[in-house]
Parts: sequence; C-alpha cells; structure tokens
Amino acid sequence: MGRTALVTGGSRGIGAAISKALKDAGYTVAATYAGNDEAAAKFTDETGIKTYKWNVADYDESTAGIAKVEADLGPIEVVVANAGITRDAPFHKMTPEQWKEVVDTNLTGVFNTLHPVWPGMRERKFGRIIVISSINGQKGQFAQTNYAATKAGDLGIVKSLAQEGARAGITANAICPGYIATDMVMAVPEKVRDSIIAQIPAGRLGEPEEIARCVVFLAADDAGFINGSTISANGGQFFV
Ligand code: CAA
Repeated sequence: MGRTALVTGGSRGIGAAISKALKDAGYTVAATYAGNDEAAAKFTDETGIKTYKWNVADYDESTAGIAKVEADLGPIEVVVANAGITRDAPFHKMTPEQWKEVVDTNLTGVFNTLHPVWPGMRERKFGRIIVISSINGQKGQFAQTNYAATKAGDLGIVKSLAQEGARAGITANAICPGYIATDMVMAVPEKVRDSIIAQIPAGRLGEPEEIARCVVFLAADDAGFINGSTISANGGQFFV
C-alpha cells in the first residue's frame, strides 16, 4: 500500500480531481467534505475513495477526524489543504459574518488541518504539505478582500512551515490555481465570468486535473528539495 494522503474538500471540484490523481499515483486517499452527503457518497461509489465528514473550521472536529483517518488508513504522510469557500462582496457591503466565515474556513481551517498531523510527520521524518491557495491571494480581487486575505495568509503558513519542517524531511508548498472550471467559479455571474476569461491569455478556464497534476508532483518522495515554493497554474493570467 502506498502512503496515506488526506485531501480536505476532496470530494468535489479541484479536491476531487486531486483525490483521484493521488489514488491513481498509488496513494491511499481520505477525502473530507463539509456537508454534501449525497455528492460524497456518489464520489465514494465512483472512485472507491473513502470520505470523512468534518468542518475544517473547527479544531476539535479536525483533530478527531484526523485521528479516525489515521486509525482506518495509517499515518497521514501527505496533506492537501484544499477546502475553501467564497463569500464575495465589495468591501463596503461585506458583513463581519462574510469576513469571519471565509477566514475560519480558508485560513484557520488550514491551521486546523496541518497542526494535528505535524507532530507525526516530525517523528517519522517525512511529510508533504500542499496548500491550495489562489491567484487571488497573489493579486487580490475585486469583491474578495476576505478570500484574498486568507489565500495570501495561506502562503505565509507554507513559507514558515517550509523552514520549520525542512530538517525533519517535511516539505510545505503552495499551488495558486487561476480560474478553474468548478462550481465555485461557475457561481460567479456569467457576465463577470466572461470578462475574467477574456483576461486569461490561454482563453479558457483551467481544468481541475491541471491542478491535480501539480499536487502529485509535489507529493512525490523525490520532490524533497522543492520546499516553500508556489506553483502558479493560471493560464498566464498573472505572474509573480
Ligand atoms: N473591477 C472593477 N469593478 C467591478 C468589478 C471588477 N472586477 N466587478 C464589478 N465591478 C463593478 C460593477 O461594474 C459595479 O459597478 P457600477 O455600480 O458602477 O455598475 C460594481 O462594481 C458592483 O456593484 P454591485 O452592487 O453590482 O455589486 P454586488 O454587490 O452585486 O456584487 C459581485 C457583485 C459579488 C462583485 C459580483 O460581480 C462577483 O461575484 N464578482 C466576481 C468576483 C470574483 O472574481 N470572485 C472569484 C470567485 S472564484 C474564486 O474565488 C476561485 C479562485 O480562487 C480564482
């Protein structure tokens, strides 16, 4: 059996593509989801990948969930912190609730996912941490002060953990997807989405599989010298 990988938000969208690609690469995968039982059951039926339900914004739920995954599947050696939400609104209309929900899920949720697995990785002297940030954490985005702040914060987590984990055989890297054809992007009003696509030199949205292939690359045993990096996969829309 291959190494065990945990993918948060791993039953839909980019996360589902990541879960499947890791399974195809030989990993034993656990995919988490927050609420959509039906989609998760369908995903397990279709892929054979086990799903686990917890809210990444809750530290105790995350800790308990991770303990259950490890009891079922063995120590988690690859973690993909992918779960994320949007609550878009221009700043003058953004409510404190919209701010807090996004911070709790996209930023604190990454802490809650990584903190419980960190001691085991340090002990075993191996770990691969991959955080799914966003192009909008790099460049900002109209109506996304909350989301952009969390995705920029995720890059700070990765760069710090890269330094803390290096001597223990742990790498931490980020991927910044551009606009990918998922429910999240399809929720953007069509007119706005068309104007975004017009700004992408590739002339199209990305596919979830195009992000998943970056994850498989970073998760590999022989990717050990790639640490603290950010892979931008955005069709040429933004260069750092
Ligand atoms: N740049 C400049 N101005 C913009 C703009 C932009 N990108 N988008 C909208 N505006 C303008 C509008 O033209 C409008 O101006 P007027 O009042 O002069 O007509 C104003 O800003 C918007 O005012 P509204 O009252 O219509 O705004 P709203 O409260 O209805 O909110 C919105 C609309 C939430 C901003 C909507 O346009 C939207 O969802 N925009 C997309 C935001 C976005 O890109 N989100 C990314 C989601 S995908 C994702 O996050 C994944 C990832 O990692 C890439």
